[in-house]
Amino acid sequence: MDSTPPVIDGATTLVGIIGQPVVHSRSPQMHNAAFRALGLNWAYVPFPVEPAELGDAVAGLKALGVRGFNVTIPHKQAVMPLLDDISPAAVAIGAVNTVVIDGGRLVGHNTDGEGFLRSLTEAHRFRLERSRALILGAGGASRAVCDALARAGVPALRISNRSAGKAEELAATIRAHHPGCDAKALDWNPLDHRAAINWAELIVNTTSVGLHVGDGSPLDTNGISPGHIVADLIYNPPQTPLLQKCAALRARTLNGLGMLLHQGAAAFALWTGKDAPVDVMRRALDGEPRPS
Ligand code: ATR
Repeated sequence: MDSTPPVIDGATTLVGIIGQPVVHSRSPQMHNAAFRALGLNWAYVPFPVEPAELGDAVAGLKALGVRGFNVTIPHKQAVMPLLDDISPAAVAIGAVNTVVIDGGRLVGHNTDGEGFLRSLTEAHRFRLERSRALILGAGGASRAVCDALARAGVPALRISNRSAGKAEELAATIRAHHPGCDAKALDWNPLDHRAAINWAELIVNTTSVGLHVGDGSPLDTNGISPGHIVADLIYNPPQTPLLQKCAALRARTLNGLGMLLHQGAAAFALWTGKDAPVDVMRRALDGEPRPS
């Protein structure tokens, strides 16, 4: 990876990310590599912002002429009332991860779902519109994934969450926005999971189980077969216990790095109006050296 710092001068256009914490975000390396590759005098900066400071931070970014910013935990919902307009996908998801500032107007988007879909269809050849999907988790990431899958024509979703009420609420939201998708909540228990494994072609883990050292799999993988595609939104570690078990059962697997890449590529295009140099961004994320 080219680690040359960007040259900042009087004409530099600024974008960035607000969240807490942002110190481990991989977005700066990905976007700054993309700006260098296209010869754009732009820079991407992480801004740690406490919840109590969110309003001042957003007003400040606007006043400073920043072109836009990503939004991450814990501000993806709280930022919404501060915006002038919000895209239909972000409204359906109920969260914003990208803001474009255009002529002083703040417009919110959500590129997480699109990022997930692109990473999935890039990694594996299959017919989304024939694939029934089991989704584990019903938090913010799940809302983006479920909306994107329903938008792409997945005929049926089963959403299973430890707290059942959130799965019910998300299934109802998906049915309201996508009447063609048979979305239902499922209890969080091994028997129901087993039946859903046999029913589904696609399984997506959106829970945080697998993120921390010592975590197990959120799903008993009995019944997983080579016919399944199993995606985990976690990318660190690159192979969660769920993915390890499913890969051993010869299912096709996918971690969350591609979603990170493609949500960033979609944000890049919204800010710059240019196609993102996806391969450059991928190499920057992988930490691989760029070819000279
Ligand atoms: P994100 O924005 O990444 O989706 P989130 O909104 O905090 O984060 O959602 C985390 C998800 O992981 C939720 O579905 C959560 O389940 P609850 O709604 O019951 O909290 C799920 N999760 C976290 N820890 C879990 C665990 N130990 N077992 C099962 N699910 C868990």
